[in-house]
Amino acid sequence: MSTSPVYFKKRDFLNGQVNFPLCLAPMVGLSHVALRRLVKSYMPAEAKTIWPTEMLNSRKVPFEDLRLTPETMRHSSETELIPQILGNEERPIKESIIRLQDEWGAEGIDINMGCPVQKALKHNYGVSLMGDSDYAARVVEMAARWSKGPVSVKLRAVDNSNESLEKLTKFVQGLKQSGASWVCLHPRTAEQKRRGQADWAQIKWLKQTISGPVIGNGDIQTAEDVYQMIDETDCDLVMSGRALAARPWMMWQIAEDLGLSNPEGRVGKAPRTPEEEGAEYGRALLQLVDYCEEAFPPSLALRKIRFYIRTTHVWLLFGHSLIGISSLAQDLDQLRRSVTEFFLVEQPMRAKTSLRQ
Ligand SMILES: Cc1cc2nc3c(=O)[nH]c(=O)nc-3n(C[C@H](O)[C@H](O)[C@H](O)COP(=O)(O)O)c2cc1C
Repeated sequence: MSTSPVYFKKRDFLNGQVNFPLCLAPMVGLSHVALRRLVKSYMPAEAKTIWPTEMLNSRKVPFEDLRLTPETMRHSSETELIPQILGNEERPIKESIIRLQDEWGAEGIDINMGCPVQKALKHNYGVSLMGDSDYAARVVEMAARWSKGPVSVKLRAVDNSNESLEKLTKFVQGLKQSGASWVCLHPRTAEQKRRGQADWAQIKWLKQTISGPVIGNGDIQTAEDVYQMIDETDCDLVMSGRALAARPWMMWQIAEDLGLSNPEGRVGKAPRTPEEEGAEYGRALLQLVDYCEEAFPPSLALRKIRFYIRTTHVWLLFGHSLIGISSLAQDLDQLRRSVTEFFLVEQPMRAKTSLRQ
């Protein structure tokens, strides 16, 4: 296994505060305060990365109670938060940014230019901004005007033709000239949504053709994938969504590979075998239930856990049974009992799935 110090170094994000090679992806319904706390609980204190929110609609943020809205709840221990907004008009972008940074503690702002869902396309947000480079650059300009911290952009892949790749480079250069500090590339096309193979060559291409940091995302399921993406693409930071949610101790595995200390309160070695990982999934799930209960009203907490299980069960050999259990549970206590019982039997976890959902 590779343990080169190249993976643990000061990274060009938030004035060099980031030193860890992996971060969590923004995911609607998943990258909430409870999951962020869970993932962070597997990181040693000296490891620093950036933290997302679920995507936030800039037309709603100005009117919401940020402390009580599930998508913007945060824990007092959280730092390096870079919320993601969806937007294309200056006034809502400005008002969202001012509130998020001044009232809420955002240290930067990420702009979603990768969301392919119909609702976003209808409003000309998300990935549709990638079809209009001038307008996309103006959106970055609007954000940079109001953000005291860095502005970043999350993008999707283009098709693989030379012409499209050249266009991608020009597009990103335009964003950077307008004030984007870095970009994150999820190299699946809008048509692929989240399926099919991510084309890491496009991350490498961006690193070679633009200046400044690039975050690589897509098909990261294990710690080895993190090292491989850095080796193959030279990206500055790796982002993982579904698999890091399922396997939050990937943070611990990496910290261990890099010779860092254990996460606070965790003894022994990071789980590695399918059986150790399966048992850890059970413990992490129960911890997530506690964190969700602390943050959300009970019925919402139960829905959040069900969604978490629907997304992550695919890494467990018999994960479909866990879906049944979570849908039968009437409340969080019943869920805790059923989950505890389920994991009394060994539940091996697979390293990789086909990431079909
Ligand atoms: C349930 C779900 C919700 C997502 N929501 C967002 C989002 O709000 N903003 C965004 O930029 N990407 C979103 N994504 C895409 C992820 O950030 C990421 O780019 C994608 O899942 C690929 O990474 P992965 O293969 O590691 O999961 C979402 C993905 C999932 C699975």
